[in-house]
Amino acid sequence: MRHPVSLSQNKAQPLPIVVLISGSGSNLQSIIDRIADKTLNAKICAVITNKSDAYGLERAQKAAIPTEVIDHKQYDSRENFDAELTLCIEKYQPKLIVLAGFMRILTDDFVNHFYGKMINIHPSLLPKHRGLHTHQRALEAGDKEHGLSIHYVSAELDGGPIILQQSVPIHENDSKSSLAQRVLEQEHIAYPQVIQWFSQGRLQLINNQVIFNQ
Ligand code: GRF
Repeated sequence: MRHPVSLSQNKAQPLPIVVLISGSGSNLQSIIDRIADKTLNAKICAVITNKSDAYGLERAQKAAIPTEVIDHKQYDSRENFDAELTLCIEKYQPKLIVLAGFMRILTDDFVNHFYGKMINIHPSLLPKHRGLHTHQRALEAGDKEHGLSIHYVSAELDGGPIILQQSVPIHENDSKSSLAQRVLEQEHIAYPQVIQWFSQGRLQLINNQVIFNQ
């Protein structure tokens, strides 16, 4: 006699992720919200920060997500900090590590260890404006458009293989903050979308090329 397969057996397991933050955590919030409304099939196993006063910690706690603070000032070298961070991440066995405003330069060893399973969101249309102050620099350069890039993290700062970019127009009267706001709104749509692609197994990195399976 055949037993009916229960629906829950058919359902894909949520993708286990950890999110690394240093600040406000508005991108973290967008991920929490998309998980809550079930458009993102993921589970945030932990939120890890190097800043004990990061507002994103409150967002995580409100959503009952475990949090970890690893204060980089307590470590005498980048290597030691990254070693502790590695242990902390591995404790949660994530399939994907999501950097969301994590303001630390990472050692090559750390990045190589997690290569292919760590992604970052950067507020510019890479390779334009790597590093900090991207909105100001886009305005000063007289760019007509600006935007965001989501990429695999590689040893080259903001230089890993790009998964998705989204552009926004720059208006004549834009200030740094009006432009930042326009980009951030798109970040909040794009980042959960990319994580959902991981959850669906649609993204692969082969020979440093991003392969998107329809
Ligand atoms: C975002 O602009 C992101 O692109 C950059 O850091 C900022 C983080 O913002 N990497 P939030 O902490 O998610 O609000």
